[in-house]
Amino acid sequence: MRILVCKDYNEMSKKAAQMIASQLTLKPDSVLGLATGSTPIGMYKELVSMYEEGLIDFSEVKTFNLDEYFELPKSNEQSYDYFMRENLFNHINIKEENIHIPNGMTDNIEKECKNYDEAIKEAGGVDIQVLGIGHNAHIGFNEPTINFERGTHLVNLKESTIEANARFFDSIDEVPKKAITMGTGSIFKSKKIMLLASGEGKAEAIYNTVYGKVLPEVPASILQFHNDIVLILDKDSASKL
Ligand code: GLP
Repeated sequence: MRILVCKDYNEMSKKAAQMIASQLTLKPDSVLGLATGSTPIGMYKELVSMYEEGLIDFSEVKTFNLDEYFELPKSNEQSYDYFMRENLFNHINIKEENIHIPNGMTDNIEKECKNYDEAIKEAGGVDIQVLGIGHNAHIGFNEPTINFERGTHLVNLKESTIEANARFFDSIDEVPKKAITMGTGSIFKSKKIMLLASGEGKAEAIYNTVYGKVLPEVPASILQFHNDIVLILDKDSASKL
């Protein structure tokens, strides 16, 4: 595991965007695994600026998002589809057919998950996966549980995750209780992984990810076994290391 400690959120976002930019320079048709949450917003802003300055091109890029709320329409401002368009896709030259986000409104969950995994495989796998981390060390929406899930699946969100994400909704009752997420196994298959964390609230999760036992109760801990992973942290999230 490589660990990069940045002085603040801005530096973290810039470093992360630079890594994506280098990836796109080396391989313009890269497959990017993307994350939502507040942490990567600064990175997306940087990427949009780089695109506007003509420094990067997304015309051949394919993206696969980690997760989506179940039964929340895409038009809902809290859906991850909406988030990705607002923060990135509406501002760059990515082709619509190259954008992939699990369909939370599916009426055939099994088929949706299977097709999502197939699409990742057909694209040649994820070249670089961006991850945030939950306070309980969840990645995507892989919550602490008793086994690592291999592929895309439907999950019941933990009460603590519902509470953490309630800040984006008008009331906690509006937060979906379920989500579709890539499995820990799918995430692990990415050629490179870049995990971003910011703020003291993530310090314990980061400590457990780096030094804890590798257990499905700490989903991000499995990343210790990956051979091309970088943690890009601000000082506060790195404060327990
Ligand atoms: C959600 C997302 C995760 C994200 C996490 C942390 O649960 N599914 O992908 O990493 O939130 O979000 P934040 O960056 O806002 O702390």
